[in-house]
Amino acid sequence: MLAVVPPPVTVRVPSKINLHLAVGDLREDGYHELVTVFQALSLADEVTVAVTDDPGVEVYGEGEKSVPTGANNLAWRAVQALAAHVGRAESEPKIRVVLRKGIPVAGGMAGGSADAAATLVGLASLWKLEISRDELAEVAAKLGSDVPFALYGGTALGTGRGERLVPVLSRHTFHWVLAFDQKGLSTPRVFAELDRLREEGDPPRIGSHAPVVEALASGDPRQLALLLGNDLQAAAVSLRPGLRRTLRAGVNAGALAGTVSGSGPTCAFLCEDAESALEVAAELSGAGVCRTVRVAHGPVPGARMVGGGDND
Ligand code: C5P
Repeated sequence: MLAVVPPPVTVRVPSKINLHLAVGDLREDGYHELVTVFQALSLADEVTVAVTDDPGVEVYGEGEKSVPTGANNLAWRAVQALAAHVGRAESEPKIRVVLRKGIPVAGGMAGGSADAAATLVGLASLWKLEISRDELAEVAAKLGSDVPFALYGGTALGTGRGERLVPVLSRHTFHWVLAFDQKGLSTPRVFAELDRLREEGDPPRIGSHAPVVEALASGDPRQLALLLGNDLQAAAVSLRPGLRRTLRAGVNAGALAGTVSGSGPTCAFLCEDAESALEVAAELSGAGVCRTVRVAHGPVPGARMVGGGDND
């Protein structure tokens, strides 16, 4: 009798920006204590998982050449972590993962984390696992600090390494313009640069997250724009001084405010509404300060199946 091969499953997964990213001190485990407000954006990756006799990872789209496809690809590590978690004995799971990238690679928008989260959701369906999103989030947290958020999406307060999440009420759809830089920045390097800047002097630290949470509840983009803050921005700008020009160009083009996204180098510009975002994007495209410009909105849901599987 022929074995029944389940159909491939495709999952759409959002990118993220940090509306507020307060970086505390370096911990003994090499991570920094964070207080952050995440927002999931419509700029997304699509990840397909399929049963195969030819296991591995394929990458298409944005930054495809710079994504590793071997054992250190975070989506592949997600396959192995979930297989181990549920006690599947295969030494190499017979899974093919196809990543269709819209999220910039090493861009500070958690693209690799998104792919890992999408892989977990896809495999849970493909393998017909009875597993809650909270249990998937435990596996996710071991893969990376931003992976749990990509599972839940929306708007959330993150603490610890960023992996402990509480949802935040957000009343409005916010409109963003994203400026991708020529090449990525390494997250550990940006954190290390912040440590260096803090050893040398006392760069200003952003304050409490409470006003950001209030602005999200009010839904007023003008109020939120005044409060965007990221302790990693000074470090990203120190490593990539051209970002200062990009940030200025977005505001000159009509954005309410700009911020480096996470560890950068992507810059995110909050706009008044969808129409204004299109205008800002058009003007920023012509300013010659970045490689690519995209518009996006948020918050959007976390990793979701869009095709295949039995649950559709
Ligand atoms: O958790 P993740 O693998 O995404 O983190 C990548 C790197 O970013 C870590 O190895 C660490 O250098 C830095 N990081 C940090 N503090 C955090 C999160 C990340 O120092 N809270």
